Amino acid sequence: MDIEGTVAVVTGGASGIGRATALELARGGADVVIADVHDERSDEVVREIEALGRSALGVHCDVARDDDMERLARHALADFDRVDILFNNAGVPLLGPPERVPMEDWDWVLQVNLYGPIRGVRAFVPGMLERGRGYVVNTASIAGLFAYSWDSVPYITSKFGVFGFSEGLALYLRPQGVGVSVVCPGLVETNLGELARLAGVDDAVEWSAGMEDFRPIGADEVARQVVDAIRADRFLVLTHPEFAPLLQERAQDHDAALAARIARLPPPPRL
Ligand SMILES: NC(=O)c1ccc[n+]([C@@H]2O[C@H](COP(=O)([O-])OP(=O)(O)OC[C@H]3O[C@@H](n4cnc5c(N)ncnc54)[C@H](O)[C@@H]3O)[C@@H](O)[C@H]2O)c1
Repeated sequence: MDIEGTVAVVTGGASGIGRATALELARGGADVVIADVHDERSDEVVREIEALGRSALGVHCDVARDDDMERLARHALADFDRVDILFNNAGVPLLGPPERVPMEDWDWVLQVNLYGPIRGVRAFVPGMLERGRGYVVNTASIAGLFAYSWDSVPYITSKFGVFGFSEGLALYLRPQGVGVSVVCPGLVETNLGELARLAGVDDAVEWSAGMEDFRPIGADEVARQVVDAIRADRFLVLTHPEFAPLLQERAQDHDAALAARIARLPPPPRL
């Protein structure tokens, strides 16, 4: 899809990958709606987009809430008539032992990370299908492609859900003129830690394992790859290609890959 002249909605657009992608889309000629719970940062990004000569709108939107998503759609369509690109990107991390994480925390991470994109699709894809044109990008994670550790089972669960949702959407929407991509970043320097929750245990340091080898990259790099994928109609955005061999090995022998990962990780602390 050519970005010039499009209208994009970016959830989680006030910070990190969302902010960087909103700016990259604006540089490509898109008008952008920023949907986020952080109003102050959202206003800043709106000003940055306007300084690039594009129109922008900030809408307070908690993607975990039906009424917020409906309001977002109303405001976006009132200001811009249509939405061509939907970037379902808002997400939050949750660490903790799966048998001890309270249901309200499971609900939180799944409502934001998985039901958020589902709500986004329900709000904006009908218009795209009517026009036979549009693009949906969902942010999963490398944690949506393989379980990198035992420390983040709730987050991994939500991101595997986003990956499957995206692949299914690609089968359903592409033949109808709507493109789909899924972004699977490794470690990216953002503000993600601010909203992170630890549940069921007290010690975050003791409970964190498995990310020591991850190579951090900047959000701008991810944004360039996302916008390239939209232009090229490419499904998978694997920001850290060093994970590709690991995924290939796992596809060949899942049990061997699991055994190798368990051998590499420190054992989970006994609770
Ligand atoms: N940073 C990483 O290393 C990394 C790696 C893989 C995947 N991701 C994913 O990238 C996405 C973007 O995260 P980021 O790293 O840019 O973090 P970030 O915290 O910098 O940005 C996330 C934005 O989402 C917003 N947000 C959080 N909950 C929300 C909600 N309920 N409704 C609306 N907005 C909400 C936050 O206010 C924030 O502005 C997330 O889905 C995250 O899971 C990040």
